[in-house]
Amino acid sequence: MNVSALSLTRLPGSISGFLQLASLLGLLLFLFKAAQLYLRRQWLLKAFQQFPSAPSHWLFGHKIQKDQELQQILSWVEKFPSAFPRWLWGSKAHMVIYDPDYMKVILGRSDPKASGTYRFLAPWIGYGLLLINEQTWFQHRRMLTPAFHYDILKPYVGIVADSVRVMLDKWEKLIDKDSSVEVFQHISMMTLDSIMKCAFSYQGNVQLDRHSQSYIKAIGDLNNLFFDRVRNAFHQNDTIYGLSSDGRLFHRACQLAHEHTDQVIKERKAQLQNERELEKIRRKRRLDFLDILLFAKMENGSSLSDEDLRAEVDTFMFEGHDTTASAISWIFYALAAHPEHQKKCREEVQSLLGDGASITWDHMDQMPYTTMCIKEALRIYPPVPVVVRELKTPVTFPDGRSLPKGTAFCACMSPAGWRIMASPHGHHRSSLCPTGIIVTLSFYGLHHNSKAWPNPEVYDPFRFAPDSSRHSHSFLPFSGGARNCIGKQFAMNELKVAVALTLLRFELLPDPTRIPFPIPRLVLKSKNGIHLRLRKLH
Ligand code: HEM
Repeated sequence: MNVSALSLTRLPGSISGFLQLASLLGLLLFLFKAAQLYLRRQWLLKAFQQFPSAPSHWLFGHKIQKDQELQQILSWVEKFPSAFPRWLWGSKAHMVIYDPDYMKVILGRSDPKASGTYRFLAPWIGYGLLLINEQTWFQHRRMLTPAFHYDILKPYVGIVADSVRVMLDKWEKLIDKDSSVEVFQHISMMTLDSIMKCAFSYQGNVQLDRHSQSYIKAIGDLNNLFFDRVRNAFHQNDTIYGLSSDGRLFHRACQLAHEHTDQVIKERKAQLQNERELEKIRRKRRLDFLDILLFAKMENGSSLSDEDLRAEVDTFMFEGHDTTASAISWIFYALAAHPEHQKKCREEVQSLLGDGASITWDHMDQMPYTTMCIKEALRIYPPVPVVVRELKTPVTFPDGRSLPKGTAFCACMSPAGWRIMASPHGHHRSSLCPTGIIVTLSFYGLHHNSKAWPNPEVYDPFRFAPDSSRHSHSFLPFSGGARNCIGKQFAMNELKVAVALTLLRFELLPDPTRIPFPIPRLVLKSKNGIHLRLRKLH
């Protein structure tokens, strides 16, 4: 018998030996993982023992019907005082809080963003201001704060007003054909137009351009895909997610979003090649957002890397338009549903602006009633329904209940949490073990908590009358503490300009056949869109 014939007869034996070894290793790995998840679950059950919650399945957690999440959370807000643990699956739970005193405690600390949740956003918006932590966050925040100085914000009022007028002109043409309009899409285009002109000195016509429409569509898809991924135990692992159909869609939508932001950076860099343009920027008293990024020198003297620059542009492009689009759409719906308040706002705006030909920074604090109505809509429909933190140290709440720091058992079933820690750029690093307790600050729950807001479902702008009093942490649409919204002032001005100019031209009425149904995504959306009937005023 020759040698090759010999090895062929031995082969089946060696294959089965290999398969036996592989199955043994697989089984050991499985048992190890199962033990790890079991211990994690036991540890969490102990950590949450002072906080009662609704019964949940040991493996599937709290089962909530599709799109009923907000309604379910509200019923638990009424039942469990201040906070309850929400089980996503066997070994994963978040402590959901919605009490003003609890909010005050958590927002007064410096716990980092929950890396296990927010890392899913990183392929899209990168590690920009929203996702970074610690020292790098501090440096970036300090670098970018001057972009929101009131000297910079002042001329933006006029730019935003122009964008709003383009949208209203479109509406005038539309309502001949169909008097009920899905406004969220239009408003998203308008807020994208505004942020691109204000923060990125973009000169194109965003609201009429097809590329911007596909960017808006990609952002809508990313919102949904992120929401689904956080709730799917099998999609926590990057490799598995990447192979799934959702993962491929996510990848495609990220590419589309990046094409849009890359184009903005490219055009601006090209402009800066022009000596005269460069000189003009150098002579500006204050630089705008993109100027700051392009000219940025960090404290150690180095400029922002291309990766960091792109992350900030992606972050501000998204945060700067989707949040305000959600806010304006829901404010319009609230005013449509409450014609008596809409009428009073219109009277106030008419007496201030006349025909609205000119609206300036000085008008911004001269619409008290309209501002009350805007705030009340932000209360009922907070554009950012939740934010998430990971506890760095134990915490004790004012009612004496407490939560520990973290465990040694991995919660995320993915090595990515550890990769984030090990990244050589300080800004990607979260200094704590990614197994800390996850705290979800539910602004939606807070704003609908009857202990903070009696009759929370009633739209009553007088809750925000100048002489009214409330807890410092009962109204948090822009979050609070050091990591509050950097764009708050810009956003409030945009909301006021949009409301004022729209009320001068249109009467807003609800469409009784399509009442919006709020669903939580990264920003508050409506399952069936926001349809309004628009009646042109003469
Ligand atoms: C009505 C509109 C807006 C609402 C309700 C809103 C709400 C929020 C909230 C709740 C946070 C805290 C997020 C967290 O802790 O995870 C936040 C952070 C942030 N917002 Fe806004 N935002 C709005 C508009 C804007 C605009 C117009 C911009 C940019 C021009 C912007 C840029 C940011 C950034 C960069 C952060 C991260 C800040 C940091 O961590 O230092 N936002 N926003």
